[in-house]
Amino acid sequence: VQVVPFYGEHQAGITTPQQAHLVLAAYDVLTTRAGELKDLLRAWTEAAARMTQGQPLPASSSLTALPPADTGEALGLPPARLTLTFGFGPGLFRRDGVDRFGLASRRPNTLQDIPPMPREALDPAWCGGDLLIQACADDPQVAFHAVRNLTRAAAGAAAIRWMQRGFLGMPGAGGGDGGGGTAGAAAGSADRNQTPRNLFGFKDGTANRSVLTDAGLRQHVWVGPSDGPAWMRGGTYLAVRHIRMHLEVWDRTSLDDQEQTFGRRKDSGAPFGASDEFDPVDPARLPQDAHVRLARGDGSIQLLRRGYSYVAGIDPKTGLLDAGLCFLSFQRDLQRQFVPVLRRLQEQDALNEYTEHFGSAVFAIPPGTQPGSFVGEGLFG
Ligand code: HEM
Repeated sequence: VQVVPFYGEHQAGITTPQQAHLVLAAYDVLTTRAGELKDLLRAWTEAAARMTQGQPLPASSSLTALPPADTGEALGLPPARLTLTFGFGPGLFRRDGVDRFGLASRRPNTLQDIPPMPREALDPAWCGGDLLIQACADDPQVAFHAVRNLTRAAAGAAAIRWMQRGFLGMPGAGGGDGGGGTAGAAAGSADRNQTPRNLFGFKDGTANRSVLTDAGLRQHVWVGPSDGPAWMRGGTYLAVRHIRMHLEVWDRTSLDDQEQTFGRRKDSGAPFGASDEFDPVDPARLPQDAHVRLARGDGSIQLLRRGYSYVAGIDPKTGLLDAGLCFLSFQRDLQRQFVPVLRRLQEQDALNEYTEHFGSAVFAIPPGTQPGSFVGEGLFG
């Protein structure tokens, strides 16, 4: 199936099996009028409802003296399971002490910037944002087209603050089965039960399996009736960390050390002391500072991770590869789930020797939308 429904109880792009490509864009809101902010969200919702279903933006005029409504580069491409997921950053509620839209009292308590952490070197240009669009698709041009056209629709009301592109190698996609078909169709036949590998060569996302059940999502991901503002029920919160991975250093590290760093085997993904990727983790068999041992803690906190690898050429300062992870996790509460896990990792994780966090952002991801309504409408109700 190449089309993911846009309308529903929850926004798409959260529990949707991961597509191969990501375009993630954070925006600063420029207007100070609540009415214009609402108009923007309504326009984004209508455009997203069309583009995710594989339709171009509708022409409002037949005048060839005007620029076309749709920029055109997705014409003829399959919908490629495009999902568009929208979020609200803390700055929408109060920025530099100013409540621009009269929304300050509606901010969820948990929606606060991640506090400073040890060992991070954050670049303000890669932090924050009032609004977020996560575009995921099995075709990179389909994902970029969506963000480009939504950015264009925002002209004057919001401007891009930072943008990251990401990708995942999808096991089973495009090859081994006789080939043929478009890239989109090939990715559509990817084996979604197989875990993709990150740029350190390890399977990444294994532990999500226990979160991706009805009970797991209710417990760890969806905002419930007792969780705070009613307008967020059925929504979730997104944590973004832009993390550079020092590939050259990693590639000079022995296989033993690589495996000790995570506490899992590189080829199979199995935890130490087990043989299958999905065998239970026995923390006692993992080094004290192994990533999996620290990330897991006592097992009570779980996150739904949905990150993508990025490669941005060469870092001109060092001549080394600028590559890493656009870490994304969805959770029901940022302060109770994400922050303590991140702190544990930043203080003790063996992985820190090979990584560097350079950006950070958090967003409230409102619940899904119904036809006739717009994303986040409940916030203004
Ligand atoms: C598990 C890689 C950063 C949270 C894992 C696993 C790998 C991995 C290979 C084991 C397989 C799996 O369950 O997915 C990485 C890399 C990172 C990174 C390469 C940075 C470049 C982070 C960050 C957080 C995090 C910043 C959260 C603050 C977790 C969690 C687990 C996990 C919660 C599952 C632990 C469990 O319950 O078994 N990560 N990770 N990771 N990671 Fe990371």
